[in-house]
Amino acid sequence: MSVEGRPGATVWFTGLSGSGKSTVARSLQACLGRQGRRTYVLDGDDLREGLNSDLGFSAEDRAENVRRVGEVALLLSRAEHLTLVTVISPYAAGREQVRRRHERSGVEFVEVHVATPLEVCEARDPKGLYRRARAGEIERFTGISDPYEPPVAPEVVLGTTGRTPEDCAAELLAHLAARRLADPEPAGSASRR
Ligand SMILES: Nc1ncnc2c1ncn2[C@@H]1O[C@H](COP(=O)(O)OP(=O)(O)O)[C@@H](O)[C@H]1O
Ligand SMILES: [Mg+2]
Repeated sequence: MSVEGRPGATVWFTGLSGSGKSTVARSLQACLGRQGRRTYVLDGDDLREGLNSDLGFSAEDRAENVRRVGEVALLLSRAEHLTLVTVISPYAAGREQVRRRHERSGVEFVEVHVATPLEVCEARDPKGLYRRARAGEIERFTGISDPYEPPVAPEVVLGTTGRTPEDCAAELLAHLAARRLADPEPAGSASRR
């Protein structure tokens, strides 16, 4: 148990590029920070610059990317952090492996499918990656030229279309509070936009 009386846990955001994983995780981190919880956002893009810089985008390398991120998340969560992981993690098998690793260690694993439809992600295209993938400049781009296997039984299916990131974060906070991993937001602030 943490000093706040709560154990760590891993909140695993999976979804297409541009679905909103990083944006919602940052917003949720801000909410949790206000509650005094220890949080860490483990972002797939950051890890690919360092720890995983030897990995590409083949099926094997994507699986290894997810395995390593899962191991780092487990370490942080065991050290009483709420660890918010934002990686596309396109393959169900890899996510299941990470879930089992957590279960065996007695650490809660909350899988959040950021279920923004491809068309919406592509219209957002925050980094211009879909445009480049369509132009053939990026190979093996998830959703375009590489598969995405949606989770079958995630703890949360999060819609983001037509909503603010803060509204999405509030939904997740309520879910974490119901699992006693966070405090509920005080009345009136949960729906603040
Ligand atoms: N409800 C929402 N939640 C998250 N992002 C949203 C939402 N509505 C619009 N967006 C926009 O969608 C984009 C999501 O990008 P990002 O968070 O980097 O996605 P990912 O990390 O999944 O690749 C951002 O430009 C963000 O402003
Ligand atoms: Mg991201």
